[in-house]
Amino acid sequence: MRKKIIAGNWKMNKTFSEAQDFFLEISEYLDTQNCNNTQVVICPPSLYLELATDFAAESNIYIGAQNVSYAQEGAHTGEISAAMISSLECDYCIIGHSERRKLYSETDEFVNKKILLLQENGITPIVCIGETLEEREIGIIKDVIVNQLEGAFQNITLDSDIVLAYEPVWAIGTGKSATPQQAQEIHSLIRSWLIEHYGQEKADEISILYGGSIKPDNFKELLLQPDIDGGLIGGASLNIEQFKQLISIAVELN
Ligand code: 13P
Repeated sequence: MRKKIIAGNWKMNKTFSEAQDFFLEISEYLDTQNCNNTQVVICPPSLYLELATDFAAESNIYIGAQNVSYAQEGAHTGEISAAMISSLECDYCIIGHSERRKLYSETDEFVNKKILLLQENGITPIVCIGETLEEREIGIIKDVIVNQLEGAFQNITLDSDIVLAYEPVWAIGTGKSATPQQAQEIHSLIRSWLIEHYGQEKADEISILYGGSIKPDNFKELLLQPDIDGGLIGGASLNIEQFKQLISIAVELN
């Protein structure tokens, strides 16, 4: 059975003490939940990863970084390496987020290098893909998604875990989530691509998350879709009450 993953991407938000308060409260909350097949992941800014993994060692939270360098080590001022993330015992790392693609020129080629480095360091990549509004409007969504998959997964073998996240760019931070049907259509396309390249058994194991304006009032319908295995959540993951509600929606569907 595929894992359900509820992942919070904090992006560039929260001070250190706000992060501490959040981790304390969410750890206490998770102690009261029977998460079964659901994993709760928090991806804080990298400055707080050590704090986060200290909490994770004592609770039922999993921790992810928000980005990693495409290079192994050395003269890359401001970057963090896969080995560094691994040395803090992080479980996951988001790569290819549309904000990084748009604002920091991250290409599929970079995403590909990052997948390899993360795999070598025992960290599960969360690979984000998704189309812009313009690409949707001119009817090339499927080409865009398949191109992103082909680029990211070139020469990648999947002996270890990997997670995908479909995040339509037009739904991120806009309050306008994809409908469950729109999201399912693309998740099913991604699953078919995985079957074609890695076989049915492997494709069936891979969790594909949806991201883009997830809120407590739209999450259940999204999660009920057969190929949606969780959420990558921005805004609503910053608010402890909303994040708890999202977790409880997933746990109830277990
Ligand atoms: P929002 O949930 O704020 O739309 O952000 C989604 C996202 O970008 C998660 O990576």
